[in-house]
Amino acid sequence: MQLRIESSTQTFARPRSSGILSVLMKVASHQLRCTGCAAAISPDAAPADFRCPVCSGLYDIVYPWSSAAFRNLSDRPGSLSSGSMMPDTNLPNPSALRWLWQERRTSTMPVDQSGVWRFRDLLPILQNLENPVTLREGNTPLYDLPRSAKALGIDFLLAKHQGISNPTGSFKDTGMTAALSVALERGYEWVACASTGNTSASMAAYAARAGLRSIVLIPEGKIAWGKLSQSMDYGAVTLQLRTDFDGCVRILNELIRRLPIYLLNSVNPYRAEGQKTLAFELVEQLEGQVPEHILVPGGNLANGAAIGKGFREMLELRLIPRLPKISVIQAEGANPLVRSWMEDDGETLVPVTAETRASAIRIGNPASFRKAVDTIRSTGGWIAQVSEQEIALAKAEIGAEGIGCEPASAATLAGLKKLVGSAHVTPEERVVLILTGHTLKDPEYTIDYHRGTLLNRAELAQATPSGLALHAALRKPPQVLDADTDTVLRAIDAVLLPSTLSS
Ligand code: F0G
Repeated sequence: MQLRIESSTQTFARPRSSGILSVLMKVASHQLRCTGCAAAISPDAAPADFRCPVCSGLYDIVYPWSSAAFRNLSDRPGSLSSGSMMPDTNLPNPSALRWLWQERRTSTMPVDQSGVWRFRDLLPILQNLENPVTLREGNTPLYDLPRSAKALGIDFLLAKHQGISNPTGSFKDTGMTAALSVALERGYEWVACASTGNTSASMAAYAARAGLRSIVLIPEGKIAWGKLSQSMDYGAVTLQLRTDFDGCVRILNELIRRLPIYLLNSVNPYRAEGQKTLAFELVEQLEGQVPEHILVPGGNLANGAAIGKGFREMLELRLIPRLPKISVIQAEGANPLVRSWMEDDGETLVPVTAETRASAIRIGNPASFRKAVDTIRSTGGWIAQVSEQEIALAKAEIGAEGIGCEPASAATLAGLKKLVGSAHVTPEERVVLILTGHTLKDPEYTIDYHRGTLLNRAELAQATPSGLALHAALRKPPQVLDADTDTVLRAIDAVLLPSTLSS
């Protein structure tokens, strides 16, 4: 039976009760544990806003084999509801897992071709694990950045590019395949998110794939065109609100109280289950090695925590011998984490009014603040903030290495310069930057940069003389010419001449 609620414009269906009942058997294999008060609940008891009713904390998914579950049992007796999740002495075997994950790479089954579900043994969140909603996400490339490494005086610098290979061009796809599959299995017909553009693009695609309807709330005029076009292309109900991202979240929280829509923002802990697989894939790509340092851009602050969870679980299962440091980089104009870290050791979040051209991370009140602080602390990472000018320069440098990325992703290279300068990254450390989105997400930013119209005088005045020289060398403004061969030859000469003379 379906319970229907009429809204002024649409009919929404509550989750089908039969769907929920049939899931109950399987969900006993994992629980949701509050990261604030450690209370654990069964998946079917998850509140619609994914916040703990006792302390408003966010949840993590825990499994019988994860030490979070053991700690929970020993530190806080009785905090696990009904003791249904006892520690499982039957831990997954590390060698068997490695073998199985490699084997699946040769399979033609969609579930095995997915760079998320290939690791499904460590995210048993679905009743039917063999049949998730997948668009073959993950499997993202790992590139070296030799010129940037040389300029920074470090030996080993890699970029894990989540914007390439992922079907909608950002890291969001790895989390979305997981959380949307849960929504489908639980019988939801509508899903929704507030977004700075990438989550909405991803959610719209996966919802369309699954035959679900999706509602996107985005800040009007504040998301990149590429992302806006995607949510329309995939058929989402796209609502541009006259507010910022934080305002969109506020409205969304009201909506989920009134309508049976499934929330797909990163407070949904199943998103992290998909995003954590970056850790598994990265270690595979490094032939079992763990880098010393990973840098992620920080917006709503969920991704660094998700990657940290992946590494923590690998450590617990003895798949790796130690954790990498995880550092989070924010834009100066959207820096609530950095402020809190510097002012009171990350104890208190004071929301800010966010402003940065790296629109993906224009977030002033990050939902996963506490998770991010815990991740940085427990891994020994650090924070940094970077200016608009520094982000633009770093983006041009990544572009000049033939890779390209969206502005928020470039904050990682800009942040690395800061962390090398402050000795939080040392030259012998093996560093991996997480590039989160494809360069074509925000072509307007790139064109403005090369035309010289992106940065204003005050921003450029902050650059060092060598930074200014680098900007000048990297900027390749397009030229409009008459269709005349001599004119074109003269333009090529003008470019060739200085480099010919200097060689
Ligand atoms: N990089 C890109 C390209 C993003 O789209 C986002 C977040 C981040 C970094 C930051 O990740 O929020 O986990 O700290 N974008 C969200 C969105 C907020 O709605 O697309 P985070």
